[in-house]
Amino acid sequence: MRGPRSLSGLRALVTGGSSGVGRAVAIELATRGAHVLATARRGERLAALQASLSPLKDGPQLIFAAGDITDAGFRAHLVRIAIERLGGLDLVVAAAGSGAIGPLATLPADTFQSVLDIDLVAPAELVRVALPHLAAGRDPAVVLVGSILGYHPLPLHAAYCAAKAGVTALAGSLRHELRPQGIDVLLASLGPTESEFWDALLSGQRPAWSRGRPLSAETTARSIVNALEHRRHEVIPGWRAKAFVFAARHASWIIDAIVSRNAR
Ligand SMILES: NC(=O)c1ccc[n+]([C@@H]2O[C@H](COP(=O)([O-])OP(=O)(O)OC[C@H]3O[C@@H](n4cnc5c(N)ncnc54)[C@H](OP(=O)(O)O)[C@@H]3O)[C@@H](O)[C@H]2O)c1
Repeated sequence: MRGPRSLSGLRALVTGGSSGVGRAVAIELATRGAHVLATARRGERLAALQASLSPLKDGPQLIFAAGDITDAGFRAHLVRIAIERLGGLDLVVAAAGSGAIGPLATLPADTFQSVLDIDLVAPAELVRVALPHLAAGRDPAVVLVGSILGYHPLPLHAAYCAAKAGVTALAGSLRHELRPQGIDVLLASLGPTESEFWDALLSGQRPAWSRGRPLSAETTARSIVNALEHRRHEVIPGWRAKAFVFAARHASWIIDAIVSRNAR
């Protein structure tokens, strides 16, 4: 039996590092001794994140590269930077994400496609390009940041729910597929979390259900990194998210009844 994963010296690529959960995971990993390559489009945010951490004497604590994660060339560039500047790659955390709210009938086709590209295709393709390096890494792992809506969809969330259901399936498939190469896969199924997610929607307005009591990005990041450390297959931070997934698995009629009542 393998013991807990050591985070010290872990070479990690973290997407979505400019805000919310990705940023908090990057900080949690770096403060626990990992060497982090953080990425997102807003380079100034990444530079501020780097400046907020005190540099290590003997090597990088956090470096960054700005770009669009849906660009295949940029994904390959990121992996090259990890190899050149961190000396290898042991962990990929795919936290970048975006959503769109509204009826499918009026959702622009390119917005639907963008949500799938950012939330599902980019993580899968990033893992694909990183795989040979992860396989050669130290105690390697992949973390895919999904959503409780990957377990049970809501109306007016078609693109997002389809993408996150895909992430749930991707994690389940890769967990078995990558085991022979010694690569662990962790699915983080998040419920409402404090972040810029709802301000950065590609289309539509923040729905009422998301306004409850969100978990902080920091609490969520700690749960994710603890689950990584303890080699868990899935983490569902917060009791509300756990209750939703329990209902989705065992009594989905409850969610459907609430959805129908709210639709009236
Ligand atoms: N917040 C919630 O309630 C909630 C619930 C369930 C699941 N999640 C999931 O949690 C993950 C993190 O989201 P968050 O809540 O932390 O939201 P957030 O604060 O909006 O962070 C999203 C991150 O993704 C990056 N990003 C978006 N599009 C990108 C692109 N095309 N290329 C590169 N980076 C891109 C953003 O950076 P730039 O804009 O700088 O590129 C940002 O760093 C997402 O996968 C989301 O689906 C969130």
